[in-house]
This record gives sequence, structure tokens and C-alpha cells, in this order.
Amino acid sequence: SATILAACMFGSASAAELVVGFSQIGSESGWRAAETTVTKEEAKKRGVDLKFADAQQKQENQIKAIRSFIAQGVNAIFLAPVVETGWDAVLKEAKESEIPVILLDRTIKAPEDLYLTAVTSDQVHEGKVAGDWLAKTVGDKPCNIVELQGTTGSSPAIARKKGFEEAIAGKANFKIVRSQTGDFTRTKGKEVMESFLKAENGGKDICALYAHNDDMAVGGIQAIKEAGLKPGKDILVVSIDAVPDIFKAMAAGEANATVELTPNMAGPAFDVLDAYLKDKKAPAKWIQTESKLYTPSDDPMKVYESKKNLGY
Ligand code: AHR
Repeated sequence: SATILAACMFGSASAAELVVGFSQIGSESGWRAAETTVTKEEAKKRGVDLKFADAQQKQENQIKAIRSFIAQGVNAIFLAPVVETGWDAVLKEAKESEIPVILLDRTIKAPEDLYLTAVTSDQVHEGKVAGDWLAKTVGDKPCNIVELQGTTGSSPAIARKKGFEEAIAGKANFKIVRSQTGDFTRTKGKEVMESFLKAENGGKDICALYAHNDDMAVGGIQAIKEAGLKPGKDILVVSIDAVPDIFKAMAAGEANATVELTPNMAGPAFDVLDAYLKDKKAPAKWIQTESKLYTPSDDPMKVYESKKNLGY
């Protein structure tokens, strides 16, 4: 009937109305891959036309993608920024074209009027939760820590380092003896952990590994095993993300704690965008996601199973 036809036409017209460009960093970690999956799923669910661009870890590719989204006249841009600085010029171009930009999972150092809002966790807090867990677990015993940092210049690498250091500050028995980037990847995490183990008496002088994400921790665990030590026992392992594989490692007694980061940044981002496009009222500058600590007492295999519905 005419009514149904009108409804269909309206339905498809409104679905075609919202076009969002998403500049994703790449696929360095299991968490990142899940974020991509969830963002695509959320867009589909909401009838949004998502233009996806994978930057292969390079800021210059992200800048190119944003310029191309502007040229295409998208309604909004989602940006997961690989590093903190260097965004001002391109974000000004988006602003001049009246295209709102929403930051996903990482923050930037730029004037706040250059983006609509940021959907992220409190990354300093994540590091602090990891450090507090270690301090509580180790107590007064001497503890040499090795740290696998995330991508140099990225907000999670900077903030997670800061939060962890704050947690152990003033505790004379804790010392970070080695700290280097593993670029948030499993391969690099393993490689750098191998060099830490060699430098620290084959690992015998290391009490704990703090990795800025689970993928590097998983790589580190492999290196510890190959060095003939027991991860989770000889060397405690604490990291961030809560990806399924870390729960497998936990169930095997090889990882001790992780801080959860939801891969669903897009859900809140689309909600805020919808509201903004309707009423044009600026939302809060920060939409904070939760940071929950998991340890082996949380039934790791059950959590592992439940993670399968979250884009992993
Ligand atoms: O920005 C979030 C971080 O980026 C995740 O913790 C890490 O796995 C990813 O690469």
C-alpha cells in the first residue's frame, strides 16, 4: 500500500542519511580487532553507513583518511588516534566543514573545541589499578618489575605508565628495572621480554611483568616459558584489556591480573552523536568507560566464554 511504501522510502532514506567515517589505528591487538568488529556491528544495527579506514599504525594514514572523509562530506568522523599530538591542523579542517569528530579509546593533546567528545577509559586509573594489585599481592617483599609499554606517544602508553608509577611510588621495595615499548603487539612483546630476561639474570632477578596490554603480556608469557621459568609464579604477570586469551592464560596459572577495557566505544559514540545531531547541544567532553580488575578468582574460563559475544 501507499502507507507501507512511504514508510519504506522514509526508512531507507533515513538510513542513507547518516554517514560516519571511522579512522581506525590498525589491528595491533586482539582488543583493537574487537573494537573494529563492534563498531561495524553497531553501525549496521543502527542503519549507519560506516566508511572504514585502517591506518596500519600510521598517523599520516589517519590524517589522509580524515581528509578523504571531509571531501566525501560525511556527517561525522570517529577517530581512534594512534598518538596524542599532531592533530590540530586536520581537526581544524573538519571543524571548518562542520563535521563533528568523536575520539574513540584514546585521547589527544589538542584544543577541546576541535572534537565533540572522547569515549575512553580513565587510562591513568587503569595503570593505578594494575599497580595497586601488584603492591597488595607482593606486600613488603623486594620486587623488580619489567614494563612493556604501549605505542610510543600514544595516550594509553603515557597514562598507564603514569598510573602504575603512582601506585608504587614511595614503596622502596618496588623498582621498575626495565621499561621499553612493545608497540601493543604480541610479537614485539615477546621480543622485548626476551631481551629483559637476558639482561636480568635469565629472568631470575625479575619479580613481575607489567604490560600495557594483554597481547604484549601473552607474548611475554611465551618468552618466560621459553626461558625455563613459570609465568604467573616465578614472574607475576599483570596487564590491561581483558581479551579472551589472557583468561586462558589465567586459567592455566600463567597470568595473574588484568584490567578490563570494553571494545564497545562505538555504542556510546553513536548515542551521543544521535543526540547531538537532534538538538545540537554539546555533550560532555569525556564519556568514561569502566575499568574492572579480574584475577583468577573470577572464574577465568567462564569470562573467556562470555567474551565471545563482545566482538572477539
Ligand atoms: O587504546 C587502547 C589500547 O590500544 C588497547 O589497550 C590496546 O590493546 C590497543 O592496541
